[in-house]
Amino acid sequence: MSAAVIRPLADAPGLAPMLAAWHHAHWGHFYDPADWSLQAATDELRDHATRCGRPTTLVAFEGDEPAGSVSLVDEDAPEFNGVGDAWLASLFVRPASRGRGIGKALVRECVALAAREGVSRLWLFTPEHVGFYAALGWRDLGAAHLRGHAVHLMDIIPA
Ligand SMILES: CC(C)(COP(=O)(O)OP(=O)(O)OC[C@H]1O[C@@H](n2cnc3c(N)ncnc32)[C@H](O)[C@@H]1OP(=O)(O)O)[C@@H](O)C(=O)NCCC(=O)NCCS
Repeated sequence: MSAAVIRPLADAPGLAPMLAAWHHAHWGHFYDPADWSLQAATDELRDHATRCGRPTTLVAFEGDEPAGSVSLVDEDAPEFNGVGDAWLASLFVRPASRGRGIGKALVRECVALAAREGVSRLWLFTPEHVGFYAALGWRDLGAAHLRGHAVHLMDIIPA
């Protein structure tokens, strides 16, 4: 069980640039730089901060410190738009806070939010964390490629 508290980014919209910097540094190589610059990532999160329903972002706090985030979005990589229409995306826990259950708590909260939003099926893609998501009830749909990188597609029925 994580001691972190998970709140909507809408409660702390000023965090958007910092979260965007984390995300862009970690995942920039999966996207066309013309489509997803640091500015675009920041603008996307500022937009997420305007609402608590999809597309939106949840933030985990350890005390007052942001420790990680996850997003519930309509599309993630454009290459997978035909696969699904609701995605868990951008799960990230800052290195200093890993291994304390925050990642799992963010995934569970995102799936619960999807259920409240009436999402009947939620997808994600992951390059290397199939086991992490499988332990949380996600189904491995098999391998795929994204801009030259091997990933796995996974899904879950939100409940
Ligand atoms: C993946 C990530 C979100 C996990 O966050 P975290 O807060 O450390 O995760 P938790 O503490 O909740 O859970 C860690 C558990 O997952 C397990 N785990 C981590 N990676 C795993 C993997 N690839 N396969 C199987 N289990 C894995 C750990 O062994 C640990 O298990 P335990 O609880 O039984 O000890 C974090 O490492 C991270 O931000 N990584 C960089 C971004 C990233 O890769 N995000 C996922 C994108 S798909």
